[in-house]
Amino acid sequence: MTSAPSVATATTPHRPNAPVRIATIGAGRIGSSHTALVARHVYGAIVTAVADPVDGAAARLADAVDAPFATTDIDEVLVSPEVDAVLITAPARSHSDLVCRAAAAGKHVFCEKPMAVTLDEADRAIAAAEAAGVVLQVGFNRRFAPGFAAARRAVDDGRVGTPQLLRSLTRDPGPWEVDPVRVPQWTIFLETLIHDFDTLCFLNPGARPVSVHAFADALIRPDAKASGHLDTAVVTITFDNGAIATAEASFSALYGYDVRGEVFGSKGMATAGDGRTTDMTFYGAAGVEIDTARRDTDLLHDAYVGELSAFADAVRTGSTAVVSGHDARTALQIALAAIRSIETGATVSIAEIA
Ligand SMILES: NC(=O)c1ccc[n+]([C@@H]2O[C@H](COP(=O)([O-])OP(=O)(O)OC[C@H]3O[C@@H](n4cnc5c(N)ncnc54)[C@H](O)[C@@H]3O)[C@@H](O)[C@H]2O)c1
Repeated sequence: MTSAPSVATATTPHRPNAPVRIATIGAGRIGSSHTALVARHVYGAIVTAVADPVDGAAARLADAVDAPFATTDIDEVLVSPEVDAVLITAPARSHSDLVCRAAAAGKHVFCEKPMAVTLDEADRAIAAAEAAGVVLQVGFNRRFAPGFAAARRAVDDGRVGTPQLLRSLTRDPGPWEVDPVRVPQWTIFLETLIHDFDTLCFLNPGARPVSVHAFADALIRPDAKASGHLDTAVVTITFDNGAIATAEASFSALYGYDVRGEVFGSKGMATAGDGRTTDMTFYGAAGVEIDTARRDTDLLHDAYVGELSAFADAVRTGSTAVVSGHDARTALQIALAAIRSIETGATVSIAEIA
């Protein structure tokens, strides 16, 4: 649809007052949503390119947002002088390599979770961004949801007191109709609960995880359990400030997409998250009804806009990313400890996972 961009060899330092020129790498479900949000809702950013190795995928998304360039070759966006920053929205196992390549090309990076699936990969991604002096922000969008952000403020301003008990849950909308064979092993920990692990750290600021015990099963697709499929899990985490936390996940909540968090402390409690699409409640002959969100991109629309806006701001102003590679590493450490706990049946010390 368009000609190839010219080749640049180094980072373009950000131009004052100019919009951040963003390329999406991975034009799938969340890449398409993020790209449309940048194009329509993020101040100070524009989409200049889309890359996806599948024929036609990038071109379709670029057309939808009027982006001038689409390619199946990721390197073409990495060398383009028309690109300041990339959104990495490719499958999880490609993330760390793409972060390293984008940083080496001098591009600022917004990377979807998980930033990496091993700690070595996470360390390489963090080091690559630090060496290149680029922003690296990871897609823990829940931190930008107004309720979760307000819960964190209640911790920061002392109203909650010392955190003692925390909870976070993710229930994906059902019915769950994916072929379990297509779901990479440990997805429930590395891609679903990773949000909850980050949320628990976010609501317990300054504390470090100490130990992890996980339980998991295939309650939605018991027939797939023999092949390692897990779709339901509960994880307990202890922290070095004494707090005890639980995270739970299910791939199939028939009532909609459900994301909640809670921090209970010595002075009070803050809860966040509600599956309602609006604050309207319908009262009728059959009783009371509320409408619930069916998709993450609906329920957390404002949170996605918030994280992408924060990324664009960080690039424009040269400020530090609000969700860092180090935050992503900590959440990954908990996920890897949970996996070890499932494998061994034991409580796993985070120190073993370092
Ligand atoms: N933060 C959130 O709320 C959230 C929500 C959904 C997905 N995600 C994460 O986003 C990532 C993508 O998820 P999705 O549901 O959009 O997946 P998807 O399968 O819908 O899309 C992935 C896209 O990446 C492309 N791709 C494959 N290999 C690639 C490569 N090496 N380089 C570039 N592109 C490549 C595929 O062709 C596809 O178009 C996952 O890591 C997932 O965990 C995050």
